[in-house]
Amino acid sequence: MKKRILAFLMVGILGVGLTACGSGSGDVSDSSNAGGATFDANKRIVRISHAQSETHPEHLGLLAFEEYVEEKLGDKYDVQIFPNEILGSAQKAIELTQTGAIDFVVAGTANLETFADVYEIFSMPYLFNSVDAYKATMEDTDYMDKVYASTGKAGFQVLTWYNAGTRNFYATKPINTPDDLKGLKIRVQQSPASVNMVKAFGAAASPMSFGEVYTAIQQGVINGAENNELALTNNKHGEVAKYFSYNMHQMIPDMLVGNLKFINGLSDEERQVFEEAAAISTQVELEEWDKQVEEAKKIAQDDMGVEFIDVDVEAFRQKVLPLQQEMLEENPNIQDLYDHIQEINEQYSSEGGEE
Ligand code: GCU
Repeated sequence: MKKRILAFLMVGILGVGLTACGSGSGDVSDSSNAGGATFDANKRIVRISHAQSETHPEHLGLLAFEEYVEEKLGDKYDVQIFPNEILGSAQKAIELTQTGAIDFVVAGTANLETFADVYEIFSMPYLFNSVDAYKATMEDTDYMDKVYASTGKAGFQVLTWYNAGTRNFYATKPINTPDDLKGLKIRVQQSPASVNMVKAFGAAASPMSFGEVYTAIQQGVINGAENNELALTNNKHGEVAKYFSYNMHQMIPDMLVGNLKFINGLSDEERQVFEEAAAISTQVELEEWDKQVEEAKKIAQDDMGVEFIDVDVEAFRQKVLPLQQEMLEENPNIQDLYDHIQEINEQYSSEGGEE
């Protein structure tokens, strides 16, 4: 099913490319404009790929993005959202965004690390002291805009961020202490820092794309994974992993990434609309996130039989804290953002922010 939709899209894109090449008339001045030809010759189709289901906060945020762009520029743009990794895993969809085959993708920063190593910082275990400090960092747009521009050379840039919660271990066996991780095989995102973190806990790290995790747990290829609560419900991992431990090792944001040529090709007014749409999508996503996490916990516990385990977070933190210094030594490009985050961490702990 997935393959058929992808094949359909690729044929469409290829067909458009061929028409554009074959015309030789100069009428088809920009193959990107030809994207809408199949449906409405006057509209440019804007394709957005993401990895989540249609009820996920990110999808709802993107619907608000679509609505806003079409309300303001609907005579020119037709925004289409492709959920559930229909167009491929985050990494594949980033490649499609790089080449301009699609225009936007939502991807976790772990997937951006190979394009701009400043993004490695978000994979650093226990980087943020609290959810408040995490949100304040991400909402500091003056600072983050510099970070967002860092993938320019790769042909894309970040427009906004989405909350993807706090990451925790979950497995087919209970994890109560760091020692319980010893000998387990745990899926991580394709990020060296996350691989190192899991190894430092004494487990074996198995990097794979998000869409493969359910089957890998089900078939016993891995013993568990690490993610937020929505992975249990929205992605159904709670059907196959019944123990979720609140050790809170990372807060890794998702990013709305756009093809740079497309963004730079917009007029000033259009660009403003897309930027406003991005900001609105984040607002919607954040509100939905808080609501859905609460619901997800209930559903996972009551309907799926998942046990939520409160652990001694400090014991987990101590185990992997040396990785922070190692990462800073290995990658000087994260130092500035690290220092900036430490200031925000302090600000929130001195304000009595708990968590
Ligand atoms: C979360 C996050 C995704 C990420 C996934 C993963 O669901 O929102 O962007 O890809 O975790 O662990 O791969």
